[in-house]
Amino acid sequence: MKDALEQIRASALASLAAGGDEAAIEGLRVRYLGRKGELTTVMRQMRDVPPDERPAMGALLNQIKDEIEARLGDALALARSGVRATRAAERLDVTEPGRRPVLGRLHPLVQTMDEIVDVFRSLGFSVAEGPEIEDDYHNFEALNFPPDHPARDMQDTFFVSGDLVLRTHTSPVQIRVMETQRPPLRVIAPGAVYRHDSDTTHSPMFTQIEGFMVDKRITLGDLKGVLTYALQAVFGSATAVRIRPSFFPFTEPSAEVDIGCFNCSGRERSCRICKGSGWLEILGAGMIDPNVFRAVGYDPEEVSGFAFGMGIERIAMLKHQIDDIRLFFTNDVRFLRQF
Ligand code: PHE
Repeated sequence: MKDALEQIRASALASLAAGGDEAAIEGLRVRYLGRKGELTTVMRQMRDVPPDERPAMGALLNQIKDEIEARLGDALALARSGVRATRAAERLDVTEPGRRPVLGRLHPLVQTMDEIVDVFRSLGFSVAEGPEIEDDYHNFEALNFPPDHPARDMQDTFFVSGDLVLRTHTSPVQIRVMETQRPPLRVIAPGAVYRHDSDTTHSPMFTQIEGFMVDKRITLGDLKGVLTYALQAVFGSATAVRIRPSFFPFTEPSAEVDIGCFNCSGRERSCRICKGSGWLEILGAGMIDPNVFRAVGYDPEEVSGFAFGMGIERIAMLKHQIDDIRLFFTNDVRFLRQF
């Protein structure tokens, strides 16, 4: 019995010296001193001890019990002070500088779009939108693309079903606005368009801004004046603007509008931006074709107007010297954070 007691003492003191949290200490109390605890069990065997050895054995037992109780008290106090220390460390420090919240930012295409929209709004243009899934009539027919006309092939159309297509340009918004409103009109129509085309400068989905102005006696001079003002607002007041003849079914005459290269101003043969030509193609434009006016019930003898369309990706790529259009759509924050 004496051995059993000494063994309990050694194991209890070792466990208590190792310490632990309040729950662990309470567990040790139950294990040694509980009603079914190790020491209690030995105590019950006292009646088997010969009477003359009982006093000595009883004294030893009490001594071990006191000792374990004292160590339990110490261990408990230690565990509780540990908790207090942790709580103190968690105390609110109002002098600590705040944590800056991570802020998002506008996508570079949205920024470019907003900038261009703002320029035209300052000229009194209002903003219109139209559906991205468009019918053949608004995307082609009313814009003077006759059925089977080769000009349709230039548009790399995605067909949806029946006579529905993904709009290949924002020009159908011209038709939708003119169908429901009467001149005078000054409207821009930003939005996504789709073409079956994909490489470093073409994406199957991209963004255009359409613009048009219709009133009595609108001339090519108005087209040139408005676009020169807008392009200089976007690219800088010294920007040169050049107009070249081109073709679109819905404008006559049609034009391609270029700006002087803002990188080399035409002085460097090896310029990366303009490839030495000195000019950058920026947008398509022209005087709205009489057939388009007829399609929306306007009298081409009475009103005239100009229209233009530009690709936002191209403008953002030129402005920021981005050489791969796919960077806009892969959402790599290392790219997006630069704007
Ligand atoms: N819709 C033409 C295109 O996407 C651009 C354009 C718009 C040209 C308006 C002339 C007038 O290529």
